[in-house]
Amino acid sequence: MEFRVEELDQHYGSAQVLRRVGLEIAPGECLAVLGRNGAGKTTLLKCIMGLLAPTAGRVLVDGADATAWSPNRRSRAGLAYVPQGREIFAELTVGENIEAAARAHGTHGTAAMEEAVSLFPVLREMWKRSGGALSGGQQQQLAIARALVTRPQLLILDEPTEGIQPNIVAAIGEVLRALKGRISILLVEQYLDFAIETADAFVILSRGAVVESGRAVTMTRDHLTRFIAV
Ligand SMILES: Nc1ncnc2c1ncn2[C@@H]1O[C@H](COP(=O)(O)OP(=O)(O)OP(=O)(O)O)[C@@H](O)[C@H]1O
Ligand SMILES: [Mg+2]
Repeated sequence: MEFRVEELDQHYGSAQVLRRVGLEIAPGECLAVLGRNGAGKTTLLKCIMGLLAPTAGRVLVDGADATAWSPNRRSRAGLAYVPQGREIFAELTVGENIEAAARAHGTHGTAAMEEAVSLFPVLREMWKRSGGALSGGQQQQLAIARALVTRPQLLILDEPTEGIQPNIVAAIGEVLRALKGRISILLVEQYLDFAIETADAFVILSRGAVVESGRAVTMTRDHLTRFIAV
């Protein structure tokens, strides 16, 4: 999928939280959006998923203007979102969480569903446990598998490493790197080393505006750190 955002503005009341934000993701690549707490990262993803209507600007999916599309239509077009804090169904079992997503997207019982689950072996082990009984890291893996069950062309993740134990962070990193090439990834992160290991390109957001962007090969850790602090 070719994905672009152009000149996106967003306001909460009179406060402007996104300022002419632009970015693009090439097919099969991972773009990392970096920025401090409150920079506007989650707001940007909500505008991209259609959960918030931007006050100006456009979202383009394979060249089509998707700015007015519902979240459902974006999902059918290949966007999948793993929100910050995961938002799995705590009262449902792991299996029910996966199966609900698969049914909604017509992939129940298909190879796509099996493949998404097999990326995270712990989900099979915990299949009949309730989502709320999982550790934070296990819940994050469940949330990612649930998104992958929809067979996305663009996987959008909001701080997937936040508050998660290192071995699970490593497992998630491996999965994302294995997915790259086949699908595009939009990764919002504050964990810089994880982003550096995973991304092909970077956008740095500060106070709602893009203050730096470029290919990963042109950006050192020091350079990124300096801009995140802007
Ligand atoms: N529903 C809301 N109403 C009013 N202001 C909001 C709302 N949601 C977020 N904000 C404000 O908008 C700004 C951007 O918030 P956002 O959650 O997008 O940042 P973020 O980069 O995702 O931060 P974090 O790293 O903490 O998740 C912040 O100043 C925040 O306080
Ligand atoms: Mg956020």
